[in-house]
This record gives sequence, structure tokens and C-alpha cells, in this order.
Amino acid sequence: MASKCVGILTAGGDCPGLNAAIRAVARPLIDLYNTDVIGFRDGFRGLIENRFTRFEPGSLSGILTLGGTILGTSRDKPHKMIVGNEERDMTDVAVENYHKQHLDALVCLGGGGTQKNALRLSEKGLNIVTLPKTIDNDVGCTDLTFGFDTALAIATDAIDRLHSTAESHNRVILVGVMGHNAGWLTLGSGIAGGADVILIPEIPYEVSAVANAIIARTRKGKRFSIVAVAEGAAAQEKGPGKSARKGKGPKNDKDVRKEKKLSDEDAEIVEALMPVGGENTVLLAHELQDRTGIEMRITSLGHLQRGGTPTATDRLLATRLGTTCAQLIQNGKFGVMVALRGSETVAVPLEEVAGNRKTVPLDHAWIQAARLVGTSMGDR
Ligand code: F6P
Repeated sequence: MASKCVGILTAGGDCPGLNAAIRAVARPLIDLYNTDVIGFRDGFRGLIENRFTRFEPGSLSGILTLGGTILGTSRDKPHKMIVGNEERDMTDVAVENYHKQHLDALVCLGGGGTQKNALRLSEKGLNIVTLPKTIDNDVGCTDLTFGFDTALAIATDAIDRLHSTAESHNRVILVGVMGHNAGWLTLGSGIAGGADVILIPEIPYEVSAVANAIIARTRKGKRFSIVAVAEGAAAQEKGPGKSARKGKGPKNDKDVRKEKKLSDEDAEIVEALMPVGGENTVLLAHELQDRTGIEMRITSLGHLQRGGTPTATDRLLATRLGTTCAQLIQNGKFGVMVALRGSETVAVPLEEVAGNRKTVPLDHAWIQAARLVGTSMGDR
């Protein structure tokens, strides 16, 4: 008869490494600490709806290398849960189900939003431990989040492949990389892939500076360029994350409908499918083609960056964070996120983590390195 019971959930955007982390949390609890482990389905929604699976000894085999999350995930928030067609605060139901399942702790694997949701539950008296995951690497208080290294490898491979076709056609290819608030993934893959221009949310760009960088390459005989563009990158006159449309503000349904003569329903579908930042990239490509006379193409990497098996680095990080989590629970340490600091895993109070987004500092060594190898950051 197990002495304790622990719940696990994965919330927010999925990423490679989640299953490695689930395995690393659950195995020590089940095999070493005589603890039952249940996994709630689809993030916090499964907790609210009491939908879960019980992990049996041996049921964690074979998931270390699996992408995604075997539990499913969602972006649902307990305090703003859509029930039927209305938004309701279901925090008390979450607390009630935690006790209904006689949980001694709840482990939440997620990004910035999940850390905030976890703090709310911790403040309701639940024993919470979180792990930092996201391909964006923008969770504060930790050097790294699992998922980032795999996405970095995917985006870098894509940039490598796009070089050959851009050069063959003497084209400029704009590569849309995920990361709508932080430019870590775009900056890292842009440097590793040798992009000629890297545009990140932290540095609003000047279209003229981007065009001049491309023209300067042409004058050196390089008639192709690669521009790595973060979802949240925006032109200087608009500021980070805003539309690059001249003086018109973000495109709205009416604009789309008028331009394309779409029905209301079709216009809504078009708007919903527009990848974050996609409109800015299209407008930038249009302006660059006008200014440089060079043919432009756009490749948006989208959810490819979130798919597939985790790299060794992500598996190792997820395993280290997850096993530390299991030890913290065994030692009765709650209300914390397990973070990577240098070569150590440490427990950081959720109060310090929640709402703390890690963006790229303007004096970061990666930005300096990019500039030193001749990369334009779109700002001069
Ligand atoms: O938060 C991770 C992330 O991949 C972002 O980089 C991206 O903008 C967002 O999720 C996409 O969210 P969704 O998968 O819900 O479309």
C-alpha cells in the first residue's frame, strides 16, 4: 500500500522532453519512495474535470524518447476555464479534486503561464512543484528550459537547408521562427545556422537597415541572404510585437475581408490561422523586395519546432529536473520550481518565478557574437 499519492500535469504548448520529465518525476516516486502517481489529462482541464490515468510500475518504459506529452496538454487556466460557452473561475474545483484524489503533491510541467497558474494553486494551500518547459526558453529564474535545445536543432537544420535553395535562386528567404515574446530561439538558431539578418522582439528593427544589409551582401557578390525572423519581431516604428502596417495598426477582420472579399466566417478563419507575427513577416518581405529588387520567399517553421523526439541535451535536462522534483517531494519541499543554475538544479520559490519572463538582454553575449561575425540585428 503506497504511503503517498502525487499528481502530474503538462500544460501550455507541448515540447520535446515532456515525457522524459514525466518519467523522471514518476519513476523515483513509484520505485523508491513508495508513492502512487496519477497523470491528469490535458493540463489543468483534466484536474478540473477529474480526468486522469494511474501510472503502474513499468508503464513509464519507452517514453523517454517520445515527443509531445502522453498526458495531453491545453492552455486552459483554472481561474479562467471555459465551461460551455462561458468563462468561469474553477480554482475551487481544482482544489476539491486535489483533495478528492488524496494528493500529497501536484507537479505542473509548463511555461510562463503554467508557473502563474501553479502559484495560484499553491496560494490555495496545495503542495505544488513545477518544472520549466518551453521551446521559447523564456521562463525566468532558470538558465534553460527543456524543449529549447530540440527546437534550436530543428530551426538550425531548417536554416541550413534553406541556404542551398536561396543561393541556387539568388533569393532572400525569411525564416519565421517561434518565440513571440523572447528571441532566444531565433537568435540561437540564426547564429548556429549562419543567418545574415536576425530579427528578435527585443530589438525592434528598421526596414531600411535590413534592406541595406542585404544590398551590402549583394555588392560583395552574395546575391542571396537568409533573414531569421522571430514571431514577435516588429518594425521600430511599431515597437515590439506590434503590427508593421504603416500607420494602420494591426490588420482587423474588416481589413482582411475588404482585401480578400471574404465572408465574416472565412475572415475569422483566416485571422485564426495567421501564425503569430506572420503578417509582419509578409509585410517585411514585401517592403524588402521593393527596396532591394531581390526575389523574396518566406518559410514559417511553425510547429515543426515543437515536434519529434527530444535531443540528448533535452532528455538529460528533463531527467535531472524531474528527479530533483521527486526528491523535493520526498523531502516535503513545496511551492517551488526546479531550475537549472549553472551545473546545479535548485528550488526557486514560485513567487519569484511567476510573471518573470526571461527575454534576451540587449548586451547578451549571443548578440555580441552575432554582430562580430557580421550579422545584422536590423537596428543599424
Ligand atoms: O509557447 C511556445 C510556443 O511554441 C510559442 O513559441 C508559439 O508562439 C506558441 O507556443 C504557439 O502556440 P499554439 O501551439 O497554441 O499555437
